Amino acid sequence: MKKGIHCETSRKTSYIYQQLRHGPWQTRMRKISNHGSLRVAKVVYPLGLCVGLFIYVAYIKWHRAPATQAFSITGVAPGARWSQQAHSPPGTAAHGHKVFYGIMFDAGSTGTRVHIFQFAQPPRETPTLTHETFKALKPGLSAYADDVEKSAQGIQELLDVAKQDIPFDFWKATPLVLKATAGLRLLPGEKAQKLLQKVKEVFKASPFLVGDDCVSIMNGTDEGVSAWITINFLTGSLKTPGGSSVGMLDLGGGSTQIAFLPRVEGTLQASPPGYLTALRMFNRTYKLYSYSYLGLGLMSARLAILGGVEGQPAKDGKELVSPCLSPSFKGEWEHAEVTYRISGQKAVANLHELCATRVSEVLQNRVHRTEEVKHVDFYAFSYYYDLAASVGLIDAEKGGSLVVGDFEIAAKYVCRTLETQPQSSPFACMDLTYVTLLLQEFGFPRGKVLKLTRKIDNVETSWALGAIFHYIDSLNRQKSPAS
Ligand SMILES: *[C@@H]1O[C@H](CO)[C@@H](O)[C@H](O)[C@H]1NC(C)=O
Ligand SMILES: *[C@@H]1O[C@H](CO)[C@@H](O)[C@H](O)[C@H]1NC(C)=O
Repeated sequence: MKKGIHCETSRKTSYIYQQLRHGPWQTRMRKISNHGSLRVAKVVYPLGLCVGLFIYVAYIKWHRAPATQAFSITGVAPGARWSQQAHSPPGTAAHGHKVFYGIMFDAGSTGTRVHIFQFAQPPRETPTLTHETFKALKPGLSAYADDVEKSAQGIQELLDVAKQDIPFDFWKATPLVLKATAGLRLLPGEKAQKLLQKVKEVFKASPFLVGDDCVSIMNGTDEGVSAWITINFLTGSLKTPGGSSVGMLDLGGGSTQIAFLPRVEGTLQASPPGYLTALRMFNRTYKLYSYSYLGLGLMSARLAILGGVEGQPAKDGKELVSPCLSPSFKGEWEHAEVTYRISGQKAVANLHELCATRVSEVLQNRVHRTEEVKHVDFYAFSYYYDLAASVGLIDAEKGGSLVVGDFEIAAKYVCRTLETQPQSSPFACMDLTYVTLLLQEFGFPRGKVLKLTRKIDNVETSWALGAIFHYIDSLNRQKSPAS
């Protein structure tokens, strides 16, 4: 049932998708080389074909049945197939599927990305994602803190991408939203507000659907909730009321997030204040367990393990010494614009044990443990993925599954071999030991299977999809408050 019509392949050749942040769902790199006239010919031909096909289908539609939508796409399988062109014989296209779009700007610390999502919704069914386009710009919004006017230019450029991607008739009904993450959270409040105000002005002047809440700064909890929506939307869990859902684990540089839908009353009752979030979706209310631990992201954890203080140089330029580094290691490490001198510790005993003891001290009483995570399927992203891939626990491209204990085995092995051979990645022992103990603190037993992936159904598992989807859902609710 893949009978959608996509004119995307030709258009895509004109974009250069840039690598952005270091997270796993930002590491995709798409560069399409420019071959001058050859390229133009390649572009014009499929474009012409698409336009022709489109006119033909539109002609058929208008003559067979009164279309309620300006455009309609048909039976695309769940999940976007955005690198595949799905041609179908014109005229076989069915109708009645509602098509809608959403535009989400992800304003991160190192860049701004626009995601343009296209959804299709069969009558009385939940929508599916049928297409995604994204484009990234560097640097991030926060780089314009002292020259707000300049920030508008980049935003405008990304808006033009949306205008090219979305048919004119849909512009007025397509919500446009920007959510800022880490970078803006770190700016002084008034500078961040000025930047957001500027973005809002640019948005208001655009032809898209722009609400008063169109620009905002997301906190870690919002990010976790949106990522939870994304994976449950893509795995189809949101379709079946009462069906099982999947959990989400994310490990960034500054913070780490966990989110899942508890089904056991005891989990809800034992949750500390601030750990539960009510979420309305598809006419249902979910009570999510979702928390973001600031300071327990991988880079912040490294600093804590080394005994440093966030944002402060070491006292008198002193060297930070750690049993999690090779005893012979000496080097410099930059974190949050501070450079630290770091070195290994002369080992008197098993390096892994010493390191694990130190990491346990850092994690002590920091994490709330839930029994129920043992019984929920979890997907893990970002540094969980990168670390597992770096030691070959999963395929670096395709991802895969592992058990929590695999991180421990890898940690023991890496820490042991650190002693004998100088490593090119000096933090491997520390990072793997940290991840092992962090997962144990959350309540995951050694035998617990985790899925590590960057994409589900060919779609990047970024929070942006969940966030725009939730936004559209709440707009629909406002339109028809009775339902
Ligand atoms: C995060 O922001 C949301 C609003 O977007 C708010 O309801 C929530 O309380 C905030 N959480 C934290 C931990 O600050
Ligand atoms: C939403 O839920 C209410 C009560 O559960 C139900 O009466 C209503 O028909 C539902 N609306 C839609 C659009 O499913």
